[in-house]
Amino acid sequence: MAQKHVCVVALAAVLLLLFATDCRSMGLRSQEHQRASRIPSQFSKEERVAMKETLKGAVQIPTVSFGPEESNSTALAEFGEYIYKVFPTVLSTSFIQHEVVGEYSHLFAVLSSDPSLQPCLLLAHFDVVPAPAEGWEVPPFSGLERDGFIDGGDTLDDKNSVMAFLQALELLLIRNDIARRSFFISLALGSMSASSGVGAQKISVLLQSRGVQLAFIVDEGSFIFDGFIPDLKNPFTTIANSEKGHSSGPPKEMSIGILEAAVSQLEQTPLPNMFGSWTLTATLEQLAHELPFPTNIILINLWLFKPLVSRYLERNYVTNAMVRTTTAFTMFNAGVKVTSLVLSINFWIHSAQTVQGVLELTKKIVADDRVQFHVLSAFDPHPISPYDDKALGYQLLRQTTQSVFQEVNTVTPGTCIGNTDSRHFTNLTTGIYRFSAIQLQPEGFRSIHGINEKISVQACENQVKFFSELIQNADTDKEPVSHQHKL
Ligand SMILES: *[C@@H]1O[C@H](CO)[C@@H](O)[C@H](O)[C@H]1NC(C)=O
Ligand SMILES: *[C@@H]1O[C@H](CO)[C@@H](O)[C@H](O)[C@H]1NC(C)=O
Ligand SMILES: [Zn+2]
Repeated sequence: MAQKHVCVVALAAVLLLLFATDCRSMGLRSQEHQRASRIPSQFSKEERVAMKETLKGAVQIPTVSFGPEESNSTALAEFGEYIYKVFPTVLSTSFIQHEVVGEYSHLFAVLSSDPSLQPCLLLAHFDVVPAPAEGWEVPPFSGLERDGFIDGGDTLDDKNSVMAFLQALELLLIRNDIARRSFFISLALGSMSASSGVGAQKISVLLQSRGVQLAFIVDEGSFIFDGFIPDLKNPFTTIANSEKGHSSGPPKEMSIGILEAAVSQLEQTPLPNMFGSWTLTATLEQLAHELPFPTNIILINLWLFKPLVSRYLERNYVTNAMVRTTTAFTMFNAGVKVTSLVLSINFWIHSAQTVQGVLELTKKIVADDRVQFHVLSAFDPHPISPYDDKALGYQLLRQTTQSVFQEVNTVTPGTCIGNTDSRHFTNLTTGIYRFSAIQLQPEGFRSIHGINEKISVQACENQVKFFSELIQNADTDKEPVSHQHKL
C-alpha cells in the first residue's frame, strides 16, 4: 500500500532507543513523596469493569480510514456519540470545553485553576488502518474478551490511549481531584497516511491561532518493552523524544528495465548503518547493567565490539530500522502501456540524516542519470525534545512510569521509528514525547497493523492509572526550561 501507516507506533519504538542519558536522573524526585498520597491509584471493582467495557464498546465501532480522504464516516460520527454516552461527567463539566474540529475530531480543554502553569496536551487518534482480511482468530473489531485480553484491530493503536485519557479524566472528576495545570486532549483523525494527519493538523492550527503554547505533548509511539532482549529480566521503557523523518516519491514513469535496475541496486546497497553516530550506544550501555555475562561485557565495551553489535542489530527488522534509513518500494503499471512503470519509494529517515542527504545518497547508489527523482512529500527527522533534569515532560513521564510500573529499572529516551501525529505540533512546544504506557511483549508489538491485535485487561487498567497519575504529577510549579537540547 502506498501510504502504509507507520505510526506505528509501533514500529516504533521498539527497542529502542536512539540515544540515551542517565536514567537515574533525579529531576523532580524531591517532590515525589509529598504528592504520592493524592494519587488515585486504586480503582474499585465497578470502575475496573467499566474501564474494560467502555474500551470494548469503542473497539466495536469500526473507525477505519482507507486513505487520507476516505473513511467510514458513519463509524466516525458514531464514535463521537459514543464518548458522550460513556463519559457523561467529562462531557457535562463546566470547566471542560469540548469542541468538534473538522467534523469528526475532538478537542477537550480542561481549564484548571492556575493559569500561570503552561498547559500540556495528550494526543491520540481514533481512526485505524484497515485490518488484514485473513488470519484473525476472531473478527477484527469484535472487542471480545478472552483469556484476560480484549481483541480488536485498534486496541493498541490507538483507541487504548483515546479511552485511557477520557477514562482517567472521568475518574479524576468523579473524585473531584483535578489538577491545577490545564491540559488539552486531542482525539483526532489522521494517523492514516504518512503525509496527511488531517484532524490532528487542524487541531494544531486551531491551537496556534489561539496563541496556545504547551509545556509538553504526549503522543503514541513507544512502549514498555517486555521480553524484547534475551536475558533482560525486567521490562524497560523508551520514551521517544524524537521521530524518524519520511519522504516519498518519485512517481516517475520510466521504462521497466531502467527502474528494475535501480531498485535492484538500492536493494543490494542499503543506506548506511548509522549505529554509533547517534547515542543508541549509550542506551545499550545503560541496559548492560541489567544483563548477564557475556552480553554485559560486550555492551559495556562497544569501543571494541561495535562492529559485532552493529551487525547483530541489522538482523532484526525493528533494530535495523533503528540503525538506518529504511526503504520500501512500490511499483505499478503506468496506465495502459506495459513498457513503463511508476515507482514510488518510501524512506523512513534516520535521525542522523536529512531528506536531502538521503536523496543524494540514493542518487549515488542508483548511479544512472536516466533515473529522475522527484520528492512528493517529505519531512526531516523530528527535533530532539529535551530529556535533561529540567525537561518537565520527560521527567514527569519517567517518574510516573517508575511509580506505576515498579519493575521497570531503565527508562531511556529514544526514537520513534514510524511517524506520529505529533509532528504537526512542533510550533507549540519543544517537548514532544511519544509514549503509550502499555507493557508490550514482542508478539503484541508484531500484531500492530497486523493480525490478532489485542490488549490485556491489566495493561488497559495500568494505562488509565498512568494517565491519572501523570495528570496529577503535572500539578507542579516547576516550569519547563525552554531550550533545544543539543547532542
Ligand atoms: C461503517 O461503520 C458502521 C458502523 O458505524 C458499520 O455498520 C459498517 O459496517 C462500516 N462499514 C464498513 C465498510 O466498514
Ligand atoms: C509553524 O508556524 C509557521 C509560521 O507561522 C507556519 O508557517 C508553519 O506552517 C507552522 N508549522 C506547523 C507544523 O504548524
Ligand atoms: Zn497510531
